[in-house]
Amino acid sequence: MHSTPKAEFNMLEKYKIITLTHKQINLKEISLFDIHADKEADLDQRLKDLKVYFQLSELMYLSTCNRIMFFFTQDKPIDEIFLVSFFQFINPELTDEALQLGMENARMLEGMDALSHLFEVASSIDSLVIGERQILGQLREAYALSRKRGLCDDNIRLAMDHAVMSAKKVYSSTRIGEKPVSIVSLAIQKLLRTSLPKESRLLIIGAGQTNQLVAKFLAKHDFSDITVFNRSIEKAQTIAQTVSGNARTLTELKSFDRGFDGIIVCTGAKDPILDVPTYQQLLAGETNRKVVIDLAIPHNTHPDVITQFDINYIEIEGLRALAKENMAFRQKEVSIAKDLLHELLSDFPDLYRQRQVELAMQSVPNEIKAIKSHAMNNVFRKEVESLDDNTRELVDRMLSYMEKKCIGIPMKAARQLTK
Ligand SMILES: NC(=O)c1ccc[n+]([C@@H]2O[C@H](COP(=O)([O-])OP(=O)(O)OC[C@H]3O[C@@H](n4cnc5c(N)ncnc54)[C@H](OP(=O)(O)O)[C@@H]3O)[C@@H](O)[C@H]2O)c1
Repeated sequence: MHSTPKAEFNMLEKYKIITLTHKQINLKEISLFDIHADKEADLDQRLKDLKVYFQLSELMYLSTCNRIMFFFTQDKPIDEIFLVSFFQFINPELTDEALQLGMENARMLEGMDALSHLFEVASSIDSLVIGERQILGQLREAYALSRKRGLCDDNIRLAMDHAVMSAKKVYSSTRIGEKPVSIVSLAIQKLLRTSLPKESRLLIIGAGQTNQLVAKFLAKHDFSDITVFNRSIEKAQTIAQTVSGNARTLTELKSFDRGFDGIIVCTGAKDPILDVPTYQQLLAGETNRKVVIDLAIPHNTHPDVITQFDINYIEIEGLRALAKENMAFRQKEVSIAKDLLHELLSDFPDLYRQRQVELAMQSVPNEIKAIKSHAMNNVFRKEVESLDDNTRELVDRMLSYMEKKCIGIPMKAARQLTK
């Protein structure tokens, strides 16, 4: 681990984060502190205005369903007065009550604390579902957009590069993303374990958000014979498109006679959809064991169906318990991930200093070239003109040699310094 003298920490104090997340307030309230803009161009302008108004050197803006984050650089410290005007600028319609909510719950982070938070967000330690990788994609997209908008530059680039690299290391060297925790992915995993062939006849009943996700998984796993039933045909058609299947209305369920191998049922109906007569009809005379996955609460399958027929029945309670168990497993990995992040973060001050030296050195070659040109064309012009061609060429070659060597000296010294 490298030593990080106080001076470097001070340089890093320019990194700042203002954030509100699912950890502090509920998801609906987070949107109060979001930048509201109907069009992309309006959002661009509002962010540019924000940057100018608060004299931010660089700015990156992340907005997801469970966090907003303003990551920026600025030399002055930030305080509560800054935060009040920041929130009022973002949302001029904030009520006093909402502003108070923001003030009490927002996190204002500076320097290494801000960087540490960025790293934790990138590696999903701060996520609602620990170990989900979506956040890293969202963060990278937010950065790419901020660059495209011309809002950020070298300091944020450096922090983001290191945060992304660190997150990848966390994902690959801990078990934080192992064992699925979403009910749908667990259900699909169970379905795959039943060894139903890809060409099995599957029925999806219900076309809400849950079954939309189910359909995506089924498509990903190449199930090819799927019929979707839903109360409204439009939603059934949308899902049918995802799985290249057929769409039917829910009323057609009672007359469906093609038989089936598996059913995934998930609707908001309060009374069972799969009752004994309906199930009997769906069997179309087949007697082999079927798979039924019921993800609805209350269940859409009548208890008599489970007792009267030969069914491999997968229901939500069992999956919930497994999801909880898996989450606890991921939670255990968090402390390992935090130690790793701490170590990776401790490299950042050196990296930052090295970059500052590189930037300072960028002008050295041109300056040395300019000295040579000034010497030849001004200071020693008369003497150079009096030389014969061969001698003039020799002088020029000697100076070019010196130029090349001189450029290397400060670069080498800087490299030594930052080691
Ligand atoms: N497993 C999980 O993790 C999980 C997560 C969230 C919810 N759920 C449960 O899953 C069920 C559906 O949730 P969702 O988020 O997918 O819901 P959603 O997006 O609100 O969709 C509801 C679905 O149920 C249908 N529906 C609603 N009332 C119905 C009725 N009386 N008869 C027939 N169909 C009806 C709707 O049909 P239309 O399109 O015609 O309106 C739609 O297809 C609920 O029981 C919920 O508790 C489970």
